[in-house]
Amino acid sequence: MEKRVLGIGVIGTGTFCDAYLSTLGPKYSNVRPVSCADLNAEAAKAAAARWNIPKIYTSEEMFADPEVDIVLIITNPASHYSLTMAALKAGKHVYCEKPLATSLEQANEIVAFAKEKGLFVGSAPDTFLSPEYQTIRKLIDDGAIGKVINVSANYVGPGADLWHPNPGFLYKKGGGPALDMGPYFLTTLVAMLGPLDSVFCYANRGWDVRRLPHEDVDVEVFTNYCAILSFKSGTVGSLNMTYDEWKSSLPRMEIYGTEGVIEAPDPNSMTGALRLLKADEFKAYVNTKESLPDRINAIYGPESRFLFRDVETVVPRIGNERGAGVADLAAAIVEGRKPRVSAELCRHVTEAINAFNVCAETGMPYKMTTEFELPELLFR
Ligand SMILES: NC(=O)c1ccc[n+]([C@@H]2O[C@H](COP(=O)([O-])OP(=O)(O)OC[C@H]3O[C@@H](n4cnc5c(N)ncnc54)[C@H](O)[C@@H]3O)[C@@H](O)[C@H]2O)c1
Repeated sequence: MEKRVLGIGVIGTGTFCDAYLSTLGPKYSNVRPVSCADLNAEAAKAAAARWNIPKIYTSEEMFADPEVDIVLIITNPASHYSLTMAALKAGKHVYCEKPLATSLEQANEIVAFAKEKGLFVGSAPDTFLSPEYQTIRKLIDDGAIGKVINVSANYVGPGADLWHPNPGFLYKKGGGPALDMGPYFLTTLVAMLGPLDSVFCYANRGWDVRRLPHEDVDVEVFTNYCAILSFKSGTVGSLNMTYDEWKSSLPRMEIYGTEGVIEAPDPNSMTGALRLLKADEFKAYVNTKESLPDRINAIYGPESRFLFRDVETVVPRIGNERGAGVADLAAAIVEGRKPRVSAELCRHVTEAINAFNVCAETGMPYKMTTEFELPELLFR
């Protein structure tokens, strides 16, 4: 491929498109938005004006334009699969907002078709490419916390009712915390620790009817998930995802190894610290305490939290931005390598999220059927 700057066609110019359009071009100069499309013509017109996008299209017109190399889909989840397949059939590479698909069957079809056509497909989230999570992956790879034994990941809060202008859809089929927020936690976890071997999950709901500010909504999905993860590497972990708990002091993400502990930021908002506690330092501190109560307090009490030291990221902190995955996919096309946000990785996450519902309904553990290759670090 001769072109170095690839053309992006954006389908879906609603609430979230600015998160991409503010970085694709301005920050990532190997891509350039060349056209946009939306069922709502006004939304497409407004985005084109805001971001200087030359062409406003229908999806079909976009698929026919040779200037578009990658179709970026930022529509509502129900249309992700059909738009992805249509773009692939038109010979375009695709990057899609999460989730890639709503079922494993759809994800399998996407992966198989893209492979047959020699096209790349990636799906959000790409926050594992953030400086913080790339640094964590490097810490793990370099053995900074020894063998990884356990992870604790928690998306815990009261849902979007107190801030979202119209959160009712989150309680309807296709909603719920596992499908909406699970991809952030699962993608980040598996991009650090490798594929899952099996999962188990219980789920329930706090309310059958959700009393929202402007309406009462019948809850059609589980709103509280308690999942157990078993990775092929031997690491185990727990993942809570809930819209039903007002407040919690659980960590957003912690990774426990034989030689230390990593406290990681929220893999969605990227808020929260990146800190490392080293087992040697912890043991030395506890050994400075002479009495049994002091030792117990140093081990279990909050005072020893100061031993979690801030870690400098291997590149400067740039915050909660989107677009890294699209830029990497474009670079992969030019360089003839696999993108880091690979279709297989996204399919694995899709399978796990669907498995949580299967487990919750059957009461049985679920053996994963898909795998992926651990993505290369952005830098060594
Ligand atoms: N809003 C957020 O904070 C947020 C954060 C992270 C990820 N996301 C993801 O981004 C995606 C979009 O979310 P949003 O909040 O921007 O939704 P939105 O409803 O504000 O915008 C979606 C847009 O897509 C258009 N659209 C829907 N189907 C279409 C089709 N078949 N063809 C063309 N246009 C179509 C709609 O007209 C709408 O303008 C979702 O997958 C969501 O999970 C959203």
